[in-house]
Amino acid sequence: MSKRYTLTAALPYTNGPIHIGHLAGVYVPADIYARYLRLRGKEVLFICGSDEHGVAISMKAKKEGITPKEVIDTYHHLIKDSFDAFGISFDYYGRTSSDIHRETAQSFFKKLHDTDCFETQTTNQLYDAKEDQFLADRYVVGTCPKCNYDEAYGDQCEACGSSLNATDLIEPKSALSGETPSMKETTHWYLPLNRYETFLRTWILEGHKDDWKTNVLGQVKSWLDDGLKPRAVTRDLSWGIPVPVPGGENKVLYVWFDAPIGYISATKEWATKTGNDWKPYWQDTDTELVHFIGKDNIVFHCIIFPAILKAMGDYIMPKNVPANEFLNLEGQKLSTSKNWAVWLHEYLEEFPNKQDVLRYVLTANAPETKDNDFTWADFQTRNNSELVAIFGNFVNRVMVLMYKYYDSVVPEPNSYTKADKDALQALSESPTRIADLLEEYKFRAASQEMMQLARIGNKYLADEEPWKLIKTNPERVATIMYTAIQLVAGLAIVSEPFLPHTAEKLQSMLKLNPNTGWEDVNKVSLIPTNHNLGEASLLFEKIEDGIIEIQQAKLMP
Ligand code: MF3
Ligand code: ZN
Repeated sequence: MSKRYTLTAALPYTNGPIHIGHLAGVYVPADIYARYLRLRGKEVLFICGSDEHGVAISMKAKKEGITPKEVIDTYHHLIKDSFDAFGISFDYYGRTSSDIHRETAQSFFKKLHDTDCFETQTTNQLYDAKEDQFLADRYVVGTCPKCNYDEAYGDQCEACGSSLNATDLIEPKSALSGETPSMKETTHWYLPLNRYETFLRTWILEGHKDDWKTNVLGQVKSWLDDGLKPRAVTRDLSWGIPVPVPGGENKVLYVWFDAPIGYISATKEWATKTGNDWKPYWQDTDTELVHFIGKDNIVFHCIIFPAILKAMGDYIMPKNVPANEFLNLEGQKLSTSKNWAVWLHEYLEEFPNKQDVLRYVLTANAPETKDNDFTWADFQTRNNSELVAIFGNFVNRVMVLMYKYYDSVVPEPNSYTKADKDALQALSESPTRIADLLEEYKFRAASQEMMQLARIGNKYLADEEPWKLIKTNPERVATIMYTAIQLVAGLAIVSEPFLPHTAEKLQSMLKLNPNTGWEDVNKVSLIPTNHNLGEASLLFEKIEDGIIEIQQAKLMP
């Protein structure tokens, strides 16, 4: 393990709220990883922020008759607040409309421009004469030349994931006026990705063939096998960062040029605010950089942004880019525009204090290797049969019996039986098993390993039946209860990355020494004899059918 980690989570576009697809694909796994590394005592910088340029924003403004600034202000705050309330533990949440970001992105552009890392090309581009506007990216829709999907955008086809140029579209139509565009000549700066082919092939396809996810390697390989072409990094638009070189008047940086640089500008802002140096987080080879993203962002984080960083010199490359597949909702693709989603800010209102339930369900069913489906029925089952019936039940039984038998003072154990030793053995192995999975970005399996520890505890108690022995064999019961409380304490630590609110509550119920760390779980007994436990309260509660039916009904068109 390295000593320092820079973790980034894709900057969400500020044209709509966060939904469960974003959470499952990016923010929950990133947060689990960040919390885990902090528990291991690592230096972690977990960065995110709002992606406030690009056509998605100006289109939304145009549709609603407001300014782009009004759009980004509204959603920046909505998104930031909902992440906070949900407990995503970013160290800094920036925004790409900030001054530092504009300066940073412009200085990247200027440097690449001055060191001949760009080419210019004058070409005919799609143009909407009615709106007096060049059509790029989401301003133009048409048929995808690769898969024939007929609502592909000018920059990307959401059906097959191909990255496109607006002029590749078959039968393009302006998203503004609906008209068939005409052509008009314009000059732009291009990043010649072809110059980085050998570098990318060696670094990713050879260097990371064993540790990057197959879905990520697959996309990178197909890009490289197709042959990389120069890619325009400027646009004829008014909303964005002005192009800082002669000839750049009335042009802005391409949103995918500026947005990933947002990770760096956010780091600079964090460093200024906290009195730190930003550079080690991006330039020290002792730092592991990890980008958490969804699969539609792979090309930008594995090809384009690394090419930019490589051209800049002095920057480290990501150690990994554990991109996830997509989450569907009740069998259908999530869609902001079609309002087919479970919105985070609404969930938090309707299920206050149930952040961990959603985190758990999204992790246990994460779209890690294939697209997956979120259903409210599964949400209910995971809550009722796992969080309540296994985790919560085990913890609660131990706390209640401790109170009943010992007035919440931990008893001294006597000789251990095989069952006790097995349970303690499982406890001591649990952190390593979970850690190994987390370090391979297998969050789903890691969450199940955590639940497995609760399951073992639950079964241990059910098998040993201390309630049947308390009258006849109190010595034996002391050992059982001592063993059981160690398992509870272990759970309070290893559950923290997955269920941070629950872990906090549990740690305070146990009055666990706040210095207890991940490594302690397999070394020491976590709770000593004579330790005074705090008061028990329920960690999870059953969710009734009626609550689920309301959510299902809400989705009906
Ligand atoms: N806003 C983009 C999206 O939602 C992600 C930007 S990630 C960054 O797909 F790297 F560009 F910041
Ligand atoms: Zn397609």
